[in-house]
Amino acid sequence: MTEHATDDRVVVLTGGTSGIGRVAARNLAAGGATVAVVGRDRERGADVADADAGDTSGEVWFHRADLATKSAVRDLAAELRDAYDRIDALVHNAGLSVDARTETADGIELTLAVNHLAPYLLTHELFDMLAASAPARVVVTASDVHRRATLALDDLQLTREYDALAAYARSKLATIAFTLELADRIPDDAGVTANCVHPGFVPSTGLFRDAPLRTRLAVRVAGLIPGVGTTVEDAAGRVCRLVTDERFGETTGAYVVDGEPASPASEAADPGIRARLWTASADLVGVDPDWP
Ligand SMILES: NC(=O)c1ccc[n+]([C@@H]2O[C@H](COP(=O)([O-])OP(=O)(O)OC[C@H]3O[C@@H](n4cnc5c(N)ncnc54)[C@H](OP(=O)(O)O)[C@@H]3O)[C@@H](O)[C@H]2O)c1
Repeated sequence: MTEHATDDRVVVLTGGTSGIGRVAARNLAAGGATVAVVGRDRERGADVADADAGDTSGEVWFHRADLATKSAVRDLAAELRDAYDRIDALVHNAGLSVDARTETADGIELTLAVNHLAPYLLTHELFDMLAASAPARVVVTASDVHRRATLALDDLQLTREYDALAAYARSKLATIAFTLELADRIPDDAGVTANCVHPGFVPSTGLFRDAPLRTRLAVRVAGLIPGVGTTVEDAAGRVCRLVTDERFGETTGAYVVDGEPASPASEAADPGIRARLWTASADLVGVDPDWP
């Protein structure tokens, strides 16, 4: 694999091939970072790497991975270890919402797999590398829509009832709970922070392309209302701030809205619920829950 420049920060950014992540990748590369963009589609990946090549001081490299399965996440981690000698920031930005309940090849509900379990497993696989690169950061793109959800720890696979928006909101609640629990578990002297951010409502991205018709229509209508929603540039800026702002190299365990730590829904803040989710997640991805 190609040798990458190591004199600047190395940022791994999932979901960097479109929407918020694509703009975030460009911004981070413009600031001098080496950005390892992860996505499913080689053409979109080549496009983001090429588009960013000309006008940035950093670099963008593409790594193809479908984060829906455990083996793909593990393969990605191995590829990243091979390609870079350190990781200064791991940004979990990939996300999806699907109309009908779908199971991955591992038999896991797809929204949970991509939006929550992939960040859990990828962080697990790369944590030693992050710690060795300290100061380092884990950043998670969350969503304020998590407030509409309950975790339903007794039915994480959503077998009883499936609604696309509820499943998406639940996955975001899970990923916030994961971030806060991770921050608590990381030893104080490890030099690794973990924070998550609500980027704002961005109707123009591809996030809702597989959503039910009524959701797509609601998003389209909302996007036409002046003052509702955020531009993709502003949303990307909010994500990038957690990577670049000195403050988030010191602050850990924050859920950030409009640039400031905010209180997430009570389930995400509840240590008992977080601990149960942590163990259930470890079980679903097949790792020892006693980490980091
Ligand atoms: N748009 C909003 O209003 C909003 C609000 C709050 C939070 N967010 C969050 O912001 C993040 C970015 O979303 P976006 O709005 O920019 O949507 P987007 O344009 O659809 O981007 C989603 C990204 O995730 C990647 N992705 C999706 N499924 C994947 C998989 N199975 N494996 C690997 N990569 C996968 C996509 O890559 P490919 O399709 O190229 O593979 C794409 O790069 C998501 O986490 C989303 O939940 C969005």
